[in-house]
Amino acid sequence: MLSEEKNRLLTRVGADQPMGQYLRRYWMPIAGMTEFDSRSTKPIRLMGEDLVLYKDLSGTFGLIDRRCAHRRADLSHGMVEQSGLRCNYHGWCFNEVGKCIQQPFEDTVAPQRKGRDRVAIKSYPVQTLGGLVWAYLGPQPAPLLPDWEAFSWPNGFSQIVVSEVPCNWFQCQENSIDPVHFEWMHENWGKRLRTGDMQLGPTHLRLDFKEFEHGFTYHRTKQDSDVRDDAWTIGRVCLWPNGFFLGEHFEWRVPIDDENTLSITWKYIRVPQERQPYVQAGIPTWQGPLYDAQGRWIDTHVMNQDFLAWVGQGRIADRSLEQLGASDRGVVAMRRRFFDELDAVAAGAEPKGLIRDPAGNRALRLPMMDREQVLNDFSSAQIKARPRMWLMYTTYVFQAGQPEAVRQQMAQALGLEARDYDGIIASRNANPAKA
Ligand code: FES
Ligand SMILES: [Fe+2]
Repeated sequence: MLSEEKNRLLTRVGADQPMGQYLRRYWMPIAGMTEFDSRSTKPIRLMGEDLVLYKDLSGTFGLIDRRCAHRRADLSHGMVEQSGLRCNYHGWCFNEVGKCIQQPFEDTVAPQRKGRDRVAIKSYPVQTLGGLVWAYLGPQPAPLLPDWEAFSWPNGFSQIVVSEVPCNWFQCQENSIDPVHFEWMHENWGKRLRTGDMQLGPTHLRLDFKEFEHGFTYHRTKQDSDVRDDAWTIGRVCLWPNGFFLGEHFEWRVPIDDENTLSITWKYIRVPQERQPYVQAGIPTWQGPLYDAQGRWIDTHVMNQDFLAWVGQGRIADRSLEQLGASDRGVVAMRRRFFDELDAVAAGAEPKGLIRDPAGNRALRLPMMDREQVLNDFSSAQIKARPRMWLMYTTYVFQAGQPEAVRQQMAQALGLEARDYDGIIASRNANPAKA
């Protein structure tokens, strides 16, 4: 349980709020690069700020104020130029540092006045890595954008999934340090919904949580695993400050504002031996829906199940009413670390895990369970013989709504059939015959 005041501290992300200022010290993924194959501007709200992300004709990305400096027209309707984004109302043009570089009428009638030199709008630095566009909204000097090892794994078919989830970011991030929900939400409940089968999967027996430079790891044993298993010795990574790393995929929870979160998933799958070498031309990005055609919550896929749990906690979860249990030790540790960080940063300290030394920012390794399974080169026959791998190679279990075109690209890259996901995921160590 937390006081309302402490809950506000964790959840408020405006530029004048301690957490808003804290999160602005980190690079955030905000879009997939390939989204700009079919569009040149994208309106985007980040931590309560309305902005527009664009890619100009020279290929430069810019993230600038959504409103034009002139008379506040919406720049997401603007047109991109060789350099910069031009407002569609009177043609003022802005570059990626927010400088006004043209005012067509003013430049014509009074070129000597150079009024544009006095005009600028808000802008933020943008970088690209791993097929993602990243933004930094904090004070300069910006830290380095973390070069996670996964972004340079070879022979991979990757995809990026983007969804807007109507609730506060922090309850989404608490899910990154919540091992027990896998057993109940994704295994038991998912199976009950789809089959009516009331038999429960293997239950958790023991948990541990450890902190490291880039977050926390959580460790578990269940009835079907013991202390020799990767799930205990290595664990999963709750990535600081707003991510989750599960080996073959990352999830980030980027605050749109206090009541909405941008979920960004980056998912890798290594192509079978026979399909190598494989170089992906561009990482497809798709929008994952939350509701079906009838307006009901989608509950078949792993992250859709998470989404409905997070939103079900309330627009901003009221932590003054909760009653924590033994499974929440990680949640408590993470909250405590955030409170300590907010105090430390207010006193002038550097936030946790920022990277500033380029020599220390090459293909950074994170603790990773199942490393061999994700990165070894398996033949199609070997993949087929492992039911859980076969499931991951032939369908997309994490979110509903994968477009047919992406499904076909994936099937083609992997050289395997594509099929529908039936919504049932078994425990990692389940008897393969049943998995
Ligand atoms: S409002 Fe943008 S140029 Fe006039
Ligand atoms: Fe989950």
